[in-house]
Amino acid sequence: MPSTFLVTAAPEFESAALDELKGYDINLKPGQRLAPGLFFVSSSVPDFDFTAKVTSEPPTYARHMFPVAATVPLELAPADLDKMAEAVSKLFELEKLTPGTSFAVQARLIGDSDEGSDGNLKDFPYTPYAIKEKLAAVIVQKTGATENIKAPQMVLSVVCSKERAYIGLSAAVDNLSDWAGGVRRMAKMPEQISRAEFKLQEALEVFGLELPSKGRVLDLGAAPGGWTRLLLEAGLLVTAVDPANLDTGLRKYGSRLTHFRGTAQRFLEKTLLDSKKPHRFDIIVGDMRMDAGQVAELLVDFEPLLGEDGFILTTLKLPMASPKIQPEKIASDAIQILKTTYPIVQARQLFHNRQEITLYATRE
Ligand SMILES: C[S@@+](CC[C@H](N)C(=O)[O-])C[C@H]1O[C@@H](n2cnc3c(N)ncnc32)[C@H](O)[C@@H]1O
Repeated sequence: MPSTFLVTAAPEFESAALDELKGYDINLKPGQRLAPGLFFVSSSVPDFDFTAKVTSEPPTYARHMFPVAATVPLELAPADLDKMAEAVSKLFELEKLTPGTSFAVQARLIGDSDEGSDGNLKDFPYTPYAIKEKLAAVIVQKTGATENIKAPQMVLSVVCSKERAYIGLSAAVDNLSDWAGGVRRMAKMPEQISRAEFKLQEALEVFGLELPSKGRVLDLGAAPGGWTRLLLEAGLLVTAVDPANLDTGLRKYGSRLTHFRGTAQRFLEKTLLDSKKPHRFDIIVGDMRMDAGQVAELLVDFEPLLGEDGFILTTLKLPMASPKIQPEKIASDAIQILKTTYPIVQARQLFHNRQEITLYATRE
């Protein structure tokens, strides 16, 4: 039986997301576009087969997807909540929820007006919160499953356009992101140095990594020092490489931080000249404002500085798409360069990435 999914990507990478999903099913058909970066696809294979293929090798640009199991016409009236509740109570997929299972309801509203910080929209007489409350109560009553917003096993996804609600129930791991539409909002801390900190935090989450509390990290393109701050906070010794100044607030970390005031290329030359057997780093991170291909070549050159079990986390800045420029081709060429030295390369376009993607690379 064919299956329909609602997919979310960054609007700039929508066509890249569609193209890469076709790689999992050559008969995949694009469907309606609900909003920039939010579109349907129909797979010719059953939803569990398509999902299994996609999750075994997660795509770069599709941030979130769920199989659509029910569609409810909306009148933009409070009674819509009852109609959605009825559709949920009839979902065949409810049989996957037993009293021991944890679940969450994730609701999104897609309208014309701007979304407030709470996700509410003037176009709708109900909020995402009201939808969640109503539908969670139905699920608890019908199945005895337990609501767990932070770490659910199953997610009921609801996306409401002004015409229809699209509803699906799937395992959280099958949605490509634990967050509705892959929107991972993070709280700004007073000590935060740059918004770039969110990128590192999200990358660690998405690639399932935890910073060790001991070890040496090389931070390439470190200024003003947001990533450096997070690495130092974790307890690591950091060598920050950047021709630009670091935030003065980092001085409090004393000798745990070394600033090489120069380019990554210069740092590498100097390190290899100074010592034939340089001390290796446990982790190399990079966020350099530099062409993606150049970053990849440079990181290949840095191989002698990466510890045996070490890994690399780096952003790749991509140009805007134009008739002559295909950013995803530039990204895949850079990944091929990296794979010559680091066989494992995973790439994701994160919520906190703008015109860039983030890569995790390791030798095995
Ligand atoms: C987006 S900022 C990095 C932000 C940083 N990750 C943070 O958390 O604050 C990019 C940095 O790359 C640096 N950069 C550009 N070319 C470089 C190179 N060849 N070597 C080292 N750093 C470079 C720039 O000076 C700039 O500070």
